[in-house]
Amino acid sequence: MNWIVVNDEKEMAKAGADFLLSRIINKPELLLGLATGSTPVGMYRLMIEAYRKGEADFSRVRTYNLDEYYPILKSDVNSYVRFMRKNLFDHINIPRENTHLPNGEAKDGEAEAKAYEAMIAEVGYMDVQLLGIGQNGHIGFNEPDDKLCVNTHVTALTENTVAANARFFDSPDCVPKHALTMGIGTIMKAKEILLLANGKNKHAAIEALKDDTVTTAIPATLLKLHPNVTIVCDKAAFEG
Ligand code: GLP
Repeated sequence: MNWIVVNDEKEMAKAGADFLLSRIINKPELLLGLATGSTPVGMYRLMIEAYRKGEADFSRVRTYNLDEYYPILKSDVNSYVRFMRKNLFDHINIPRENTHLPNGEAKDGEAEAKAYEAMIAEVGYMDVQLLGIGQNGHIGFNEPDDKLCVNTHVTALTENTVAANARFFDSPDCVPKHALTMGIGTIMKAKEILLLANGKNKHAAIEALKDDTVTTAIPATLLKLHPNVTIVCDKAAFEG
């Protein structure tokens, strides 16, 4: 794993944006796996700024998001599809048809998961996958468990994750209890992975990435098996 430890959230956003923009310059038709959550918001802002300055072109990039609540209406203010439009897609020149998220409105979640995996397999998996990390070490919505799913699937959210995400909703009761998420295998098949983390509340999860062990109890530790992972984190997440 390549570690880049920076001072604060601002520097994390800059390092993350530089990383992704350099990959897009090298390969304009990049297959880019994207993440939601508060962590990448600053980085998305810098990517928008780069586009406005004429330094970035997203017209050929194809994006595939990690996950989406299930079930959820696309029009819901908390849907990840709305999040992505608000924080990135509506402000850059990526054609809407080049952006993909699991469909939270699908009638049959399992069928949607299968179709999403098949679509990603068809394009040959991601060139670069962006990840945040949950306080409990989840990636996408792959929650700690005895067994983890390889492919895109429907999953139940843990209490910890519902509580952590409740800040975006009117009350914890409003947080969907399930999600559609890429599986660990879908993520691991990306050629390159960029994980961002900031803040003290991510320290325990980041600490678990430093040693030489893997466990499904902390899903992000499985990234140690991937040959090309870069972690950009701030001091608070790295040192606690
Ligand atoms: C959410 C998302 C993850 C995200 C993580 C951290 O539940 N499914 O993709 O990385 O939790 O979120 P945040 O960046 O808000 O801390």
